[in-house]
Amino acid sequence: MMKATRGSLLGIEHLEAGEILKILTLARRMNPQKPQTLLRGKKVLLLFYEASTRTRSSFEIAAKSLGAMTTLVLSSGSSIEKGESLLDTGYTLRGVGADVIVMRHPHAGAPHLMAQHLDIPVINAGDGMHEHPSQALLDAYTILRRKKTFKGLQIAIVGDIYHSRVARSNIHLLSKFGAKITLAGPPELLPETAATLAPGLHIVRTAEEAVRGADVVMVLRVQKERLAGMKISLQDYIARYQITLQRLKLAKKDALLMHPGPIIRGLELTWEVADCPQSMIVEEVRNGVIVRMAILARALGKAK
Ligand code: NCD
Repeated sequence: MMKATRGSLLGIEHLEAGEILKILTLARRMNPQKPQTLLRGKKVLLLFYEASTRTRSSFEIAAKSLGAMTTLVLSSGSSIEKGESLLDTGYTLRGVGADVIVMRHPHAGAPHLMAQHLDIPVINAGDGMHEHPSQALLDAYTILRRKKTFKGLQIAIVGDIYHSRVARSNIHLLSKFGAKITLAGPPELLPETAATLAPGLHIVRTAEEAVRGADVVMVLRVQKERLAGMKISLQDYIARYQITLQRLKLAKKDALLMHPGPIIRGLELTWEVADCPQSMIVEEVRNGVIVRMAILARALGKAK
């Protein structure tokens, strides 16, 4: 078994702060409006075993904006349906000429396994309930554009933390840089063990406590597709945790409202909150293209 190829991006937990800053700095030089040839001739394989809109389209546009070719393989309609294993799919994609594989998979660790067996970089576009490193990097980029530093920032993360790879990656990233993170959600979606994810994490049971005085309010979707057997009353959830304008007002005046998407208006946040001036939801998506350009350039050794 080999080590993951240099340039792979498997998670934030084991990524050094210096590497994170390098990617964020490189992202500042990227511009999808100006087509470039940095990755001309490179083949970017997008391998998606789970639904995706933002992550998939932005990796594709990022690759094409740098002059690379892209091919999309979805689990439905491919030989994965015929029972081909993950690694055999990887060897096949390497065989057709992939220079990098961007993959999303329902199981934690799937991209790590792929990376250990292939001699090309693998980028984790979300693995089960584990990590979503490119989302944390684009969220960090979005915050830094507005807040200058992470140090001392109060970040409230509200919602389905348990199922959220976005929350996990964001917690790892933001705590490496000295942000103060408070998590809020019902006990089923926010077990006490979440506190062990990073030192200094604070768990509270009301949205109000988390949001009060926050610089950033991150809202998460209730991941109905992963609830399997959990009894969550959406009515209760809405009453206690939905981010409304009234709750958002408890945060600092210039607080940022963030959400990785997809948003479910009327559930984890209200329509007004989704469209309010503090909402970064569309900006996060826009920054996602820039940050993924940097991730791909780094993966293919062009991060100069
Ligand atoms: C998230 C995901 O797939 O982890 N979306 C995303 O990539 N922006 C969050 C979610 O599905 O709720």
